Amino acid sequence: MTDNLTTRSGTPLAQAARDHLWGHFTRHSVYEPASAGGLGLDVPVIVRGQGHRIWDDKGRSYFDGLAGLFTVQVGHGRTELAEAAAEQAAKLAYFPLWSYTHPMGIELAERLASYAPGDLNRVFFTSGGGEAVESAWKLAKQYFKLTGKPTKTKVVSRSIAYHGTPHGALSITGIPAAKAAFEPLVPGAMKVPNTGFYRAPEHLRDDEYAFGQWAANRIAEAIEFEGPDTVAAVFLEPVQNSGGCFPPPPGYFERVREICDDYDVLLVSDETICAFGRIGSMFACDDFNYVPDIITCAKGMSSGYSPIGAMIASERLFEPFRNGTTSFAHGYTFGGHPVSAAVAMANLDILEREGLNQRVVEKSGAFRAQLETLLDLPIVGDVRGAGYFFGIELVKDKQTRASFDDAESERLLRGFLSKALYEAGLYCRADDRGDPVIQLSPPLTIGEPEFAEITGMLHDVLCRASELV
Ligand SMILES: Cc1ncc(COP(=O)(O)O)c(C=O)c1O
Repeated sequence: MTDNLTTRSGTPLAQAARDHLWGHFTRHSVYEPASAGGLGLDVPVIVRGQGHRIWDDKGRSYFDGLAGLFTVQVGHGRTELAEAAAEQAAKLAYFPLWSYTHPMGIELAERLASYAPGDLNRVFFTSGGGEAVESAWKLAKQYFKLTGKPTKTKVVSRSIAYHGTPHGALSITGIPAAKAAFEPLVPGAMKVPNTGFYRAPEHLRDDEYAFGQWAANRIAEAIEFEGPDTVAAVFLEPVQNSGGCFPPPPGYFERVREICDDYDVLLVSDETICAFGRIGSMFACDDFNYVPDIITCAKGMSSGYSPIGAMIASERLFEPFRNGTTSFAHGYTFGGHPVSAAVAMANLDILEREGLNQRVVEKSGAFRAQLETLLDLPIVGDVRGAGYFFGIELVKDKQTRASFDDAESERLLRGFLSKALYEAGLYCRADDRGDPVIQLSPPLTIGEPEFAEITGMLHDVLCRASELV
């Protein structure tokens, strides 16, 4: 790769990005020149990927510690997936799943149903995770209308959890700052505490099981407060991403399942990140032994080589749609796109053939052990996660667990860490949607040498960060 890659018009890529591209969740001022009040940072332009490494337009390479965006399970540069896409595009590039079907959509639906637990046999395709969450809320509402409980419409989810950006999914999202600009959102979405054990109420900090029961019981409480006749569904990630990887305490999902059954409320397992080996199983509800009523998933299904998502529903939820004139009047032009479905099939072939899920199960402990060596640093308060999915929480004072205030967090994360990690050669996420955390979610292909490499880069940068605070 050479310096100064340009667009067709001859404009340097970074310049054309500054002039024309509108980044998602991007603060554009950082790329504006200092004379215009910006920070004058280079626009990162990623031009190539191979395995767990990516390259920018200047020829520098980085460790992809986030698998793009929790997505590239099998690593970059798999020509097999590109070939699957080309073959399908040549045969049937596009057809919708609106009353018609196509072979790849059918085969992928059958395969996902075979991986899903219980009788979650019905697959509704979307283009991504937020659309899957949106679809699940709409299905829950219509299901109860069709089965004689029309007032069951509300939903429960957890604080700081991210569930996507469509209006409904954003209502379910528990990050006030991500929602404020778009209020009023869809009404009827309540929030309950998440399972961040490091920040558990003082009296529960020594007993993870008791904390899990407490957190689960807050769901029952929210349902009681709102009125069980008004609540349709609970949306939970197996391991909550936003906030920095909150795994479920032992017994948590057993209790949640019990509560959902008692109140006839649907349990939606939002596995947009956690499915397809990220925690070790195809569906992470299997990692934590619960059977939801709906799974939502996306990202790792195709390892991001082509966009696709899905809502997978139980037989019970499909039953009212079997007969008569009823339909689920909802859909997306690109839901279950034939090229994406073909890529997903080939991607799942790789996960199975190379035993990547098993690899995650076997090596997750070694990954965690490496990362836990960072706990020696004064700024590292907690290392947590599951599978190949970890969060490292940064604190001002380890003894008291005191976190940084907003201004300090801004200086630490945006002012120093994001840039320093990237310059050190590690692409990952420094996030302060909850307390400040560094998040890791690398391709599932890596092993011990790469765990050490990631930890080494983090160690150097966090040592410097410790001196700054
Ligand atoms: C748990 C969860 N749900 C939903 C979404 C939204 O997915 P998408 O960006 O594909 O719409 C995400 C995205 O990261 C997610 O992590």
